[in-house]
Amino acid sequence: MNTPMTILGIAGSLRKASFNRAALRAAQQLAPAGATVEIFDLEGIPPFNQDEEARPPERVRQFKQRIRAADAILMVTPEYNYSIPGVLKNAIDWASRPYGDSAWEGKPVALMGASVGAMGTSRAQYHLRQVFVFLNMYPLNRPEVMITNASQRFDEKGNLTDEETKAHIRKLLAALVEWAKHHEAGKQATAARA
Ligand SMILES: Cc1cc2nc3c(=O)[nH]c(=O)nc-3n(C[C@H](O)[C@H](O)[C@H](O)COP(=O)(O)O)c2cc1C
Repeated sequence: MNTPMTILGIAGSLRKASFNRAALRAAQQLAPAGATVEIFDLEGIPPFNQDEEARPPERVRQFKQRIRAADAILMVTPEYNYSIPGVLKNAIDWASRPYGDSAWEGKPVALMGASVGAMGTSRAQYHLRQVFVFLNMYPLNRPEVMITNASQRFDEKGNLTDEETKAHIRKLLAALVEWAKHHEAGKQATAARA
């Protein structure tokens, strides 16, 4: 496995003052030693058009390269109408195509999300977990990081100020690193047996 381990972070909001973007920036500071969280911003990914999937726009090409180069993925999702925001689902769909050339194949993934409500994106996160089944991604089960009442946990500059939330994110990233190592060791053992 590459050293340091690269985690590609993707936030499902384009809003400048997005709590989810802010949570992802916080994750960059909270990664364990030996792991780096890089960010891919979804700005510039156009609406998916299957006519274009064989020759996707440059931004989508870059996105797929960055996913493939990463050891693990961190998705940071808002919840829109009890589900995944279109911006995030759209990006997931682009990177999954054309059929047989999905960049997501076999990737370990962790998820978290921030909402201004009391459910902390739980419904969106469970919808995302369903999507991971078809993508053949390997989601980390625990810890679940559902950031409730987000407006109280970040300052006006978008810095995460809530210590409890920081501790949850730290645990999530540490668990993701272990999960990715475990997954990689399993792949190598399978390849050695083949
Ligand atoms: C279209 C739309 C739908 C929303 N639906 C939900 C929802 O189902 N549950 C929830 O907790 N918050 C919902 N919200 C509020 C979001 O939690 C809030 O806007 C949050 O700040 C979005 O994430 P962001 O700050 O990263 O952009 C919704 C917001 C929008 C714009």
